[in-house]
Parts: sequence; C-alpha cells; structure tokens
Amino acid sequence: MKDNYTNKTIISPSILSADFANLQQDVEILQEAGADWIHVDVMDGHFVPNITIGAPVVKAIKPHAKIPLDVHLMIETPQNYVESFIDAGADILTFHYEATKDLTEDVIGHIKSQNVLVGLSIKPKTPPQEILRYLLMVDMVLVMTVEPGFGGQTFMRECAEKIPVIKQNAPENLIIQVDGGINSETAQFCKELGANSLVAGSYVFKSNNINEAINSLRV
Ligand code: DX5
Ligand code: ZN
Repeated sequence: MKDNYTNKTIISPSILSADFANLQQDVEILQEAGADWIHVDVMDGHFVPNITIGAPVVKAIKPHAKIPLDVHLMIETPQNYVESFIDAGADILTFHYEATKDLTEDVIGHIKSQNVLVGLSIKPKTPPQEILRYLLMVDMVLVMTVEPGFGGQTFMRECAEKIPVIKQNAPENLIIQVDGGINSETAQFCKELGANSLVAGSYVFKSNNINEAINSLRV
C-alpha cells in the first residue's frame, strides 16, 4: 500500500471536527471531496487531556469508508489496544513515542505483524533525534505541530522544522505526516520542508466548500 503514495501528498482530513451524530455522512462527504485517507483521533483522557472515540466507533465507520482509515492513537499503553483497533478496521495505526519509549520497537513489531501500516508520532517537545533509530522500521512518522488533544489550535512553525531532520535520515518511501493547525498556507510550508501527508480538521470542516479546501492542501 505504501508504495502507491510515494509521489503524491496524502490528504487525511480529521473527523475530530466532524458532526459526531452524523459520522457516516461526513465520511462520505470527505471521500467524495477527494480525501485520500480518513484521520481518526483517538484520545483517552490520560495521554492527552481530552476523550474522543474508541474502537467501536472505528468499527461503525469502517463499512462506509472506501478509503483507508488512518488511526492516530493519543493514548497510554497503546500496545494494549493494537488488536482492537486493527480488528475494528484501522489501515494505518499510529501511536506516540512518548507513550512507549523503551517499548517502541516492540510496539512497532507488534503492529507490523498485523499487516497494517505503522506510524510513530512525536509531540511538540520531543526532539526528532529521539526517533531516528526507528525510521527504517516504520511506514510513517507523524510530526505534531500542536500539543495533541484538541482541534482548532495554532500551528507551531518550530515543530515543522523537525521535518527536514527526519527526511534527511529516512528511507525514500517514509511517509512524513503533519498534524495540527494545517491550512493552505501551513500545508505549503510543511510540504516545502518535506512533508508528504497532511492532516487537517477544522480547516476542512469549517470551510464552505470541502472539495476546494482539500484541493487547496494539495497544490
Ligand atoms: C489534535 C489531533 C488533530 C486534530 C487537528 O490532537 O491529533 O488530528 O484533529 O485539528 P486541526 O486541523 O483543527 O488543528
Ligand atoms: Zn491527529
């Protein structure tokens, strides 16, 4: 699956900003508007100070999703939930380095053994050097450009400066995804630095034309 993505920017709108009472409808709207993936933000109220959705909601969305579900786990002990999210239908499963530290390699191996793509994410205060040793093992690195936990926050440029450090040390086909405060301007900045996947929640859902909003991230 990953090789299909090496030459394009993967747009992964976040349903954190969707209407939770109408998720099926919003997933279908994103697909029709040209989204590549659907980004699902899972928060546990411990790793981040907010609670969102869990595996049962991923499972409910799955039959309506024709495009991959890009599940971003912002939870403690993600290793305990790998099976439940993959059974629910995650196609890309991303967890946080800060939640696993010394266990990171094991968790990467665990996810890979289930034949889905594995992503490793870092919060704003984590230096990219801490994850360089994992770049050959993962399919994607997710660079957070806001403190994880909430949509609608302001993009932190200094976090995006981590992208070239990761890119210089990464294999050619590593997906470098950015999440937090993405709009057409910040998207451009991140792409110039080497990102090839963009998550956007409020920018997409608050726009009057979702199709145009998604296209504006691509150009
Ligand atoms: C934040 C989440 C993001 C969030 C982005 O913790 O990981 O995916 O939905 O929202 P915006 O695009 O509004 O910053
Ligand atoms: Zn996210």
